[in-house]
Amino acid sequence: MNKIDEITAGKAKSLFTTDNSDQLIMHFRDDTSAFDGKKKEALLGKGSVNNQFNAFIMDHLEAKGIATHHIEILNSTDSLVRKLEMFPIECVVRNRATGSICRRLGTEDGLILQAPLFEFFLKDDDLGDPLITEEHILSFGWAAAENIIEMKEITLKINEILSKLFLNSNLILVDFKVEFGLSDGKLFLADEFTPDGCRLWDTETLAKMDKDRFRQGLGDVVESYHQVADRLGMNIKLD
Ligand code: ADP
Ligand code: TMP
Ligand code: ASP
Repeated sequence: MNKIDEITAGKAKSLFTTDNSDQLIMHFRDDTSAFDGKKKEALLGKGSVNNQFNAFIMDHLEAKGIATHHIEILNSTDSLVRKLEMFPIECVVRNRATGSICRRLGTEDGLILQAPLFEFFLKDDDLGDPLITEEHILSFGWAAAENIIEMKEITLKINEILSKLFLNSNLILVDFKVEFGLSDGKLFLADEFTPDGCRLWDTETLAKMDKDRFRQGLGDVVESYHQVADRLGMNIKLD
């Protein structure tokens, strides 16, 4: 499968058309961004570890019954995916309070939540990805009622599946963001699941092993992603 035209160049990945109009190639770049693109850097090898990490997680979720856009990994930085009509929405689940919820509600950092907390955000960097409600989504027509319910159910199911997976490797899934899209009216998990879009803390030391290392300038970003992958038994190939 060959890349034909680049149709999207996001902050960390690029999408290319292929000779199959229903399929795209997702290319994971080394570019790393935080704070809605205000902090940017290319981190050598991040695209490769994230592409392979994402393929492992998407395969695991498929095996547990979640419909994903992932078709197959093509090489160290590229994967073949189903082309979707994306919702302009980010679905977040939090198991512990950290990041934006602490700034918003003045919550103690690291507080264990009594139940997983689901939140919708509007995917709009210029507006700083604001928190939105189901009512905003319905009133602005960003998704239909049945898709809202399904996105929420699937995201909470992903939280159950992946919290177990990470805990088996002594990692706490603190929170994460996922995106969804439609193909022929059917909902699929899209985009990526990597340490760029979630928070993972060591169960013993609570050390951060995700993109907060980049956000907070803690260093060893790509090294930490590899450590997480090793703990999960992923066989990441180095370029
Ligand atoms: P960002 O949009 O945050 O800058 P990326 O650099 O990760 O993000 O770019 C990837 C883009 O591809 C995002 O806009 C995402 O919504 C979109 N996307 C992810 N999966 C699919 C898919 N299967 N079909 C079409 N678009 C997708
Ligand atoms: P937040 O604390 O900044 O709201 O982020 C919650 C989780 O969602 C965290 O794991 C990071 C992830 N996330 C992204 O990956 N991209 C985003 O644009 C946002 C808003 C959150
Ligand atoms: N993904 C967003 C960005 O790249 C937000 C973040 O991760 O901090 O800016």
